[in-house]
Amino acid sequence: MSFVVAIDGPAGTGKGTITKIISEKENLLNIDTGAMYRCVALQCLNNNISPKEEDKIKEVLENIDIKLEFIDGNKKVFLNGEDVSSKIRTPEVDNVVAIFSALKCVRDKMTPLQRKIGEGKDVIMEGRDIGTVVFPNADVKIYLDCSLEERARRRYNQNKEKGINESYEEVLASIIERHKLETEREIAPLVKAEDAIIVDTTNMTIDEVVNCIEKIIDKKRIK
Ligand code: DC
Repeated sequence: MSFVVAIDGPAGTGKGTITKIISEKENLLNIDTGAMYRCVALQCLNNNISPKEEDKIKEVLENIDIKLEFIDGNKKVFLNGEDVSSKIRTPEVDNVVAIFSALKCVRDKMTPLQRKIGEGKDVIMEGRDIGTVVFPNADVKIYLDCSLEERARRRYNQNKEKGINESYEEVLASIIERHKLETEREIAPLVKAEDAIIVDTTNMTIDEVVNCIEKIIDKKRIK
């Protein structure tokens, strides 16, 4: 029997950090589906392929090999054998990933791949459409939310730590644009699943969010 926890929500809600902590505490395989879409965007950027060049994107998708691994507790992402863990998190990728991830051909490839990775295992999978599309029968569905301003503030601080120079206003504008693209796209838009539990992280610490979600998981999980 497998146990699936779906964590959905917009960028900057702390999904990555929270999912990692819970995966370790609850011994669940951590699958970051956003990293997979970021790999597609990076591969297209590397080959100067625009979101309009569907044939070329399809070719990229046919040959793409994405691996999510954990090395000494750190999440590593490999794209066709190369460690791209940092390269997929630059502002360049941030700025285009929502456009590439809205394409039907991209989702048609990624969704089955995500199901395959999670199949038969105890997983915590984070993304935008896990509880609605990828695993609509997930045992636990969480929708992490947060105000746009707080999300921008968090991303701005993360960027600063990485040495990325972007003003708060630029980060906020990019968060607002991505939010619009993600919630208004035709296929698998970011939306709360009917049976998902909303956790609004705006005024919560990471520990508080983790504890809250663990309580929800523990109620459903017979260990
Ligand atoms: O969670 P993230 O910021 O790393 O996600 C990167 C992009 O991928 C983001 O623009 C939304 C998209 N995405 C998606 O469309 N569906 C998912 N299941 C996960 C991410």
